[in-house]
Amino acid sequence: MRPKIAAGNWKMNGTAAALSELDALTRALPENPPQIVICPPSPLLFRATDAVHGSPIQIGAQDCHAEASGAYTGDISAPMVADSGASHVILGHSERREMHRETDADVQAKTRAAWTSGLTAIICIGESDAQREAGETLDVIGAQLDGSLPEGVTAENTVIAYEPIWAIGTGKVPSLEQIAEVHDFIRNRLATRFGAEIGNALPLLYGGSVKASNATEIFAVENVDGALVGGASLKADDFAPIVAALARA
Ligand code: PGA
Repeated sequence: MRPKIAAGNWKMNGTAAALSELDALTRALPENPPQIVICPPSPLLFRATDAVHGSPIQIGAQDCHAEASGAYTGDISAPMVADSGASHVILGHSERREMHRETDADVQAKTRAAWTSGLTAIICIGESDAQREAGETLDVIGAQLDGSLPEGVTAENTVIAYEPIWAIGTGKVPSLEQIAEVHDFIRNRLATRFGAEIGNALPLLYGGSVKASNATEIFAVENVDGALVGGASLKADDFAPIVAALARA
């Protein structure tokens, strides 16, 4: 049985006042909650891990540098993320790939750094609108998987998030058939490279405009083990119903 995971990516949203959403989410959890990972902006990491102490919610960062320390103004390293009490780190989000020109090789190096610090890497992949229109989706996904994942992937140290770029923050969601096609493809590609056991055990999340109203049908798709949620993770009132839908799936 693969774990079900509801991950929230707060992006560059939230000051200390937003920590109250973690309390509210804890109070709103269903009886048998799935795994829940909230990824706040890095200044909130230490306080967020304090805020969820005793709750099933785990905390993740949104990025980390490949080096453990050094002259990299503005960056945070994997040991710093782990020191905060966080357990996860999102890597290769399309906003990092686009706006910070991160390559698959960068994501691979960051993944190794995350593992060295005992963090679980949530590795994001996804095609652009133009790539989907050109029929290149599976080629793009395959190349990103091959390039972004180091050797040594296990079901414990890695989570894959399929996030079509055109679905992020747009309200547009792929059809359930499109989600199924890509998730099946990812599962097979992982099994081919890392063996059937790891391929079958690795959690695959869908991300891009997930909300309470579409979560149940998305979670019913085979090989969808949860979601990486942006906008709808900011408020406990919006995220709790998504968590509940996953608990029921
Ligand atoms: P969204 O973002 O849920 O706001 O579309 C998802 C993401 O970027 O992880």
